[in-house]
Amino acid sequence: MSVLVGALLLGQVLGQAVTPPSSKASSTRLWSTSSAVNWNNSYLIGNGRLGGAVPGNIASELVYLNEDSFWSGEFLYRVNQDARSYMPEIQQLVRDGRVVEATNLADIAYTGTPLSTRHYDTLATWEITMNHSSVATNGSYERYLDIDDATSGVYYDINGTAYFREYIASQPAGVLAVRIASNTTGAVSLQAHIRRAPDGSLNRFEDFTRRVGNDTMVMGGNDASYPGIQFSAGTRVVAKGGSVYAIGDTVVVDHADEAWLYLQSWTTYRRDDPEAAVLSDLAAIEKTYPEIRAEHVADYQSYAHRVDLSFGNSSAEQRNMTTPQRVAAANSTFDPEFTSLFFQFGRYMLIASSRNGTLAANLQGIWNSLMDPFWGSKYTTNINVEMNYWPALVTNLADLQGPLDDLITATRDKGTNVSAAMYGVDNGGFVLHHNTDMWGDAAPQDNYIYSTWWASAAPWMVFHQMEYYRFTGDTAYLRQVYPNLKSAAQFFVGFLSDYEGYKVVNPTMSPENAYYPPNDNTTAVAITLGATMDTELLWELFNGIKEANQLLQLGDDAFVEQLQALEAQLPPYRENYFGGLQEWIHDYQEAIPGIDHLSPLWAAYPGNQITSYNMTLFNLARETLNHRLQHGSAAGGWGASWCTALSGRFFRPDWATHCITHLLGTQLNPDSLLNSGAPSEFQADANYGMPAGMMELLLQSHESISTAGSSSGYSPPGAYGGSSSANQSLTAAFTGDVNKVPLIRLLPTVPEAFAAAGGGGYVRGLRARGGFEVGIVWDAKAGLVSANITSLVGGTVYVTLGDTPIGRNNGTAIKADGAGSGVFLKLTTQVGKSYAIGNA
Ligand SMILES: *[C@@H]1O[C@H](CO)[C@@H](O)[C@H](O)[C@H]1NC(C)=O
Ligand SMILES: *[C@@H]1O[C@H](CO)[C@@H](O)[C@H](O)[C@H]1NC(C)=O
Ligand SMILES: *[C@@H]1O[C@H](CO)[C@@H](O)[C@H](O)[C@H]1NC(C)=O
Ligand SMILES: *[C@@H]1O[C@H](CO)[C@@H](O)[C@H](O)[C@H]1NC(C)=O
Ligand SMILES: *[C@@H]1O[C@H](CO)[C@@H](O)[C@H](O)[C@H]1NC(C)=O
Ligand SMILES: *[C@@H]1O[C@H](CO)[C@@H](O)[C@H](O)[C@H]1NC(C)=O
Ligand SMILES: *[C@@H]1O[C@H](CO)[C@@H](O)[C@H](O)[C@H]1NC(C)=O
Ligand SMILES: *[C@@H]1O[C@H](CO)[C@@H](O)[C@H](O)[C@H]1NC(C)=O
Ligand SMILES: *[C@@H]1O[C@H](CO)[C@@H](O)[C@H](O)[C@H]1NC(C)=O
Ligand SMILES: *[C@@H]1O[C@H](CO)[C@@H](O)[C@H](O)[C@H]1NC(C)=O
Ligand SMILES: *[C@@H]1O[C@H](CO)[C@@H](O)[C@H](O)[C@H]1NC(C)=O
Ligand SMILES: *[C@@H]1O[C@H](CO)[C@@H](O)[C@H](O)[C@H]1NC(C)=O
Repeated sequence: MSVLVGALLLGQVLGQAVTPPSSKASSTRLWSTSSAVNWNNSYLIGNGRLGGAVPGNIASELVYLNEDSFWSGEFLYRVNQDARSYMPEIQQLVRDGRVVEATNLADIAYTGTPLSTRHYDTLATWEITMNHSSVATNGSYERYLDIDDATSGVYYDINGTAYFREYIASQPAGVLAVRIASNTTGAVSLQAHIRRAPDGSLNRFEDFTRRVGNDTMVMGGNDASYPGIQFSAGTRVVAKGGSVYAIGDTVVVDHADEAWLYLQSWTTYRRDDPEAAVLSDLAAIEKTYPEIRAEHVADYQSYAHRVDLSFGNSSAEQRNMTTPQRVAAANSTFDPEFTSLFFQFGRYMLIASSRNGTLAANLQGIWNSLMDPFWGSKYTTNINVEMNYWPALVTNLADLQGPLDDLITATRDKGTNVSAAMYGVDNGGFVLHHNTDMWGDAAPQDNYIYSTWWASAAPWMVFHQMEYYRFTGDTAYLRQVYPNLKSAAQFFVGFLSDYEGYKVVNPTMSPENAYYPPNDNTTAVAITLGATMDTELLWELFNGIKEANQLLQLGDDAFVEQLQALEAQLPPYRENYFGGLQEWIHDYQEAIPGIDHLSPLWAAYPGNQITSYNMTLFNLARETLNHRLQHGSAAGGWGASWCTALSGRFFRPDWATHCITHLLGTQLNPDSLLNSGAPSEFQADANYGMPAGMMELLLQSHESISTAGSSSGYSPPGAYGGSSSANQSLTAAFTGDVNKVPLIRLLPTVPEAFAAAGGGGYVRGLRARGGFEVGIVWDAKAGLVSANITSLVGGTVYVTLGDTPIGRNNGTAIKADGAGSGVFLKLTTQVGKSYAIGNA
């Protein structure tokens, strides 16, 4: 499209009014009265594949760019050729309690060669240099990120000329776009350029730049490896009025009334010739900016608007503050609208970083400004990438989980080979350790004694696929992913070994905690066998397979029986020396009592095994969290998020209040709300994870009620199997049992102070297991006003209010039309029908 055509299109839509954004009046905006002094406080935009971090500088704007497939090289084969032959020796050392020697041998025999997977790379910076002062007229500057429509704006006035820039990352158009307007004819003059200058350095790994025609510039290069991944990025400018031309490799706009800038990037991961792909995409843009914007907003809102959350009204003082001021105040006072903004911001981040066909959200989502980012901005699989996807199902974004499915496919592909080559387990099983990259690299990563020798990531990853089925009822999906579950289990069929009458994973870890071996309280070690978390993961996996096999009639019964036999020999759950759930095979003294990793609590969240149905086990797990918190756990962002979810499951609103307040008040970059994740500037997991954690306070659906009666014969570890008393009318059922229906628990753990501060609140559009959409309204005392359950796939569901355990009946009764009333209300639902729940 020529400059002339662009100008004609623009002419139809231009208005000259450029007014201050008045973000203070909007509860859906992050906003600030100054530009970001560093990347950390830039506003993030993304379309799943392309990401931008926008600082909002007045004259020298510099948008940090990312493309999700730009990693530091092609797949690296890192199998340690000696692992297999030394594995028996390492295992024997662990069995013998010679764990320091085991660690030393693992350090060379049981690491990847080389040590690390590929890491995520920064792409380039998009420099938009305005030909005007860099000083705004006093007090006029404002920037915002509006998470209601996924637009970011910058407004300022320079001596009576008002300027406004708007940034979007459009999934339908597949590009980033900027609109620059002014209220004065001919006042838009700028230069547009792209360069690879991370951290303000000179160009690195940039192999070419050139102008194309009068309105486009393109550049590209390679990552640091050979042959590596090549990338290209290009920008094209369309202007109304004035002129557009190129000098050197810069596109210049002179005296225009308005300008639209587009950005495209590809790598060789998806395009053979990235430069050609960039240029043809840019040349093909025919829609006007307003058309692209309208399409973008509709697309974004089709996801974002599925859930509406309100913790009630903020005070006039709170509403009067900028976002950084609200962050500072959030450490001491609950801010209802700011808290729901933070919740929706997490969903915004997921929509912006994980779309069908893109790569999964990594440690920084898709946003990274560094050549060598913290932790490689990779996929850490011992909590972080999983946490990124916690909100997907419950906050009604199940269709954004596809990239995680793709990552599981990639890791299975690579992990099957690692299983055979490093463990000698050549039965179709796949192994995954605590990190992976875009290629699904499944070899151990690093030689970090607290995490490297942990082979139990695959069960956690595929758990998300079982959960997807539970939330959606999609049996075709379950059939499709069943081979992943099976392959994850096959590895353990081949690798579990004997220890004191148990089947154990050896070696393993309890990520990322350490313990003191007996008779030595100075040397903290981490390598072990039969960690409690392994039992939890394998219980869920083996029983998930049993359940899927029965549901889908797969005829895999012999395999299921084999798994059940192994499960019966896993180490049991026991009480430890401080009254918590024992974390290791023996009752070792833990070395890091305040660690954020809540590994032994996996079965309480995200797992579904530990519930209040077995109060003994539940109390042990709850005591472990209590003990951790007393020693300073939940200090970092993802720790606080995991703590919040667990506090919900443990019915401890006080702990949830502490963890939410801690994250919102102390762990955020104050303008951008990005979790600061020290020592890195940004770690995305808490931004994704906390919204999911908060929802465990309002709605739970991980428990099930048995439909087989007390004689079902199935008794998972920890259940009150079969015992009955006068008021114990219902029996719980667990993973592995198909004779069950879900239990929806309304308002289990709402902090009363939160409810009181906002005067009550509501949530609409959450999803519950069994295929239900749930809305809940609560009052200023955290009591139920009403709830609304919509059945998406039919079926029976029980509903209860508060924290009454299954098997007791002394809670608060609720009612629904046609279903009578009770503490545990049974609804037999029809597809598409909504059921109104109220107090009995
Ligand atoms: C993030 O912020 C910290 C401190 O505010 C600063 O030291 C660091 O350089 C920033 N990082 C980037 C990438 O701007
Ligand atoms: C604004 O106008 C005043 C008065 O004409 C002038 O002194 C000042 O330099 C101008 N500032 C900018 C940023 O152009
Ligand atoms: C442009 O906006 C500025 C700031 O509001 C205002 O002072 C000025 O009068 C406006 N100019 C025009 C031509 O509307
Ligand atoms: C570039 O601009 C010049 C001067 O306006 C014009 O002569 C030329 O045709 C333009 N080239 C293209 C490719 O649009
Ligand atoms: C750039 O700014 C200078 C100084 O204000 C001005 O003289 C010049 O006309 C501007 N150039 C363009 C192309 O706007
Ligand atoms: C709102 O904030 C402004 C300054 O930011 C202050 O002057 C004003 O008094 C505040 N109003 C209220 C109601 O707090
Ligand atoms: C995702 O993309 C695949 C093909 O790329 C398509 O078959 C599938 O329907 C898409 N899923 C969604 C939820 O859009
Ligand atoms: C370590 O063990 C020694 C000897 O048993 C004991 O005196 C000391 O108190 C222990 N220290 C700690 C921190 O447990
Ligand atoms: C947050 O509040 C706690 C408790 O009042 C206080 O100890 C801490 O220093 C505060 N942190 C920040 C960053 O303000
Ligand atoms: C509760 O769980 C513990 C630990 O697994 C188990 O020992 C106990 O038997 C369970 N209690 C009941 C009543 O099932
Ligand atoms: C109940 O929820 C459904 C689905 O979210 C919605 O369409 C319906 O309007 C809601 N009904 C009431 C009474 O809120
Ligand atoms: C229900 O019974 C349990 C066990 O006796 C008791 O701890 C709990 O407080 C009771 N709850 C209510 C609401 O009465």
